Formats: sequence, structure tokens, C-alpha cells
Amino acid sequence: MKQSVDSLTISDSIRELKERKNAIIIAHYYQTPEIQEVADVVGDSLQMAQHAAQSEADIIVVAGVYFMAETAKILNPTRKVLLPDTGAGCSLADSCPPAEFKKFVAAHPGSPVVTYVNCSAEIKAMSDIVCTSSNAVKVINSIKTEKPIIFAPDVNLGKYLIQQTGREMVLWDGSCIVHENFSIDKILDLHTLYPDAKFIAHPESQPHILRIASYIGSTKGMIDFVKRDSHQQYIVATEAGILYQMQKEVPHKILIPAPAFEDNTCACSECPYMKMNTLEKLERCLRNEEPEILVQESVRKKAVRALNAMLELSAIPLQSISMEV
Ligand code: 13P
Ligand code: SF4
Repeated sequence: MKQSVDSLTISDSIRELKERKNAIIIAHYYQTPEIQEVADVVGDSLQMAQHAAQSEADIIVVAGVYFMAETAKILNPTRKVLLPDTGAGCSLADSCPPAEFKKFVAAHPGSPVVTYVNCSAEIKAMSDIVCTSSNAVKVINSIKTEKPIIFAPDVNLGKYLIQQTGREMVLWDGSCIVHENFSIDKILDLHTLYPDAKFIAHPESQPHILRIASYIGSTKGMIDFVKRDSHQQYIVATEAGILYQMQKEVPHKILIPAPAFEDNTCACSECPYMKMNTLEKLERCLRNEEPEILVQESVRKKAVRALNAMLELSAIPLQSISMEV
């Protein structure tokens, strides 16, 4: 990767600050290549949570979005958790306000509550167990009661889980603005140009997109799949930031980002929230040790139970479980 002199200087400063302050940077695959390069860990949501939970660093900088930083703080409350830009939200988390979700849960008495990690600390506090895209099938299969399972906030992942597990589920109607934006017509057109390419997708995508996928999994699951699979070309339906690590893992394979609808409000398959973090903001936040992410202790105590239930089930440490169809 070519870096400008400025970004090299900033990266050097970030490395020096990390060392001096005993800090680590945990980044998501959707972050920019420069941020991934200075990170100590790059992973999917489960890996990020696992690393945050086990970290002995004094400062944990989460290069991701707000719910990821909150998750780190919930799991490791004695560390200082920083997020370079507190405006880095998530359409899924925003779709599920706590007051409305409380009523939704109350309308289904006795139903277990499973929530996708892309939600606020308050929503996690109302949950029996959390899941990520890499362990969601396992989490649903672990629920023993016959009652319908409440699942929030991603309706597309929820539909996929119903199809995979055969369980009755009551779904909250939230979605990811990036994964809802893939165009089936454009994907099929692209496939005529690359007939040997396998189509792989993230389960936040809509059912008609998932129906044509050869592999469905978390970001880490998708990277592992292209590593072990013998094909040479892939059309990849998730946020485009994943292509950086994926290409590093399979330098000789051809990776093609899945096309999205033309939409002036959204920059193709880039997550505007994830891309709010920049190298400059990362350096500033490490230097000033803010913005710090805090979670009210009464909320944290409830939320940590649901997160720990998930981590206990994801028995293999620091590794994600992926789904193949
Ligand atoms: P994973 O990396 O856990 O698959 O999640 C994708 C995502 O959209 C995170 O916001
Ligand atoms: Fe949320 Fe989608 Fe962005 Fe992930 S990619 S942070 S799910 S809006």
C-alpha cells in the first residue's frame, strides 16, 4: 500500500502514542486501509468483542462504530475505551430505540430475546443473549424454549436465521443501509461478465440476494471462505472495506465488489458511519484520550450478562464460526 508522507507521519505518531500509553487499536474490516495498517487487531464484530474482553491495555481504541466501542466498555469496564468519532453510528442500532423495543418485548411475554450485536447498550440490557453474524445460527439453536424467539434489530439476518434453524421468530424491522442497497439486476449483469465468479454475501443482505449466494457469512467468515475455496474469482456483497484484508489473504484471486443501486444519498457499498473514522481523528483521540465511551453501570451490568452468554457459547477463543450453504 502506498502511503503519503503525511499519513506516514500520522501513522508513526499513532504507533508512538500506542506504545507510550499502553494502548491498543481494535479495528473492523470496514475501516480504511491506513487505519487497518496501524491497528493491533483487525476483525469482525465477534473478534473485536473477544479481543476487547481479554485486553490488558490501559486504553482500547475502537476503530469501528459506536456499538462496537460500547461493547468493548461493557466487557472490559476498567479500561479507557475511545472512539475516534462518536458520530459513527449504525442504521441498525438507530432503528431500535429502547422505549419502543421495551413495548415490543412486553407484547410477547415469555419469549426469549436475542439481539444482534449491532444495537445500543440499553437494547443489550433487555436481551437474554447477543449474537453476531458469525455465531447467530449457533445462538438461535442454543435456545431451548419452544416460545417464539424475539430477534432484533436486523430483519434480514432474522429471516435468514428462520430459514437456517426452522425456529419461530418475531422480528424487529431494522436493516443495514449498506447491505440493503445491493442490486440483484446489477449483480446478475456482473455475473455474465464474470461467469466463473462465485457470489458470496453477508447475512445482513436481503433474502433475494442471499438466495443466489454460494456462501453466506460474517466478514471474517467470508475472508476464510475465499482462502480455503479453490475458485479464483468472487463477487463480494458486503461493505467494500473488506476487500483490503481479503486481497492481502488471497493476492492472486480476483475480488469484485457487488454493485449497489445508484443512490446519491449513499456512497455505493461504503458505510458512511464506518468511514467517519480517519487516521487524523484516530491520532487526535489517542493523543487527547477522548472521546471516551462510557456506559451507565446499571445498564452495563445487565448488558454484560447477554454478551457473556454469547462469548461462552463461542467457545473457540478469538475465532469466528462461519456458515456455509
Ligand atoms: P461482522 O463483521 O461481524 O460480520 O459485521 C458486519 C457489520 O456490518 C458490522 O457493522
Ligand atoms: Fe451498521 Fe451497516 Fe454500517 Fe455495519 S455496515 S455499521 S451494519 S450501517
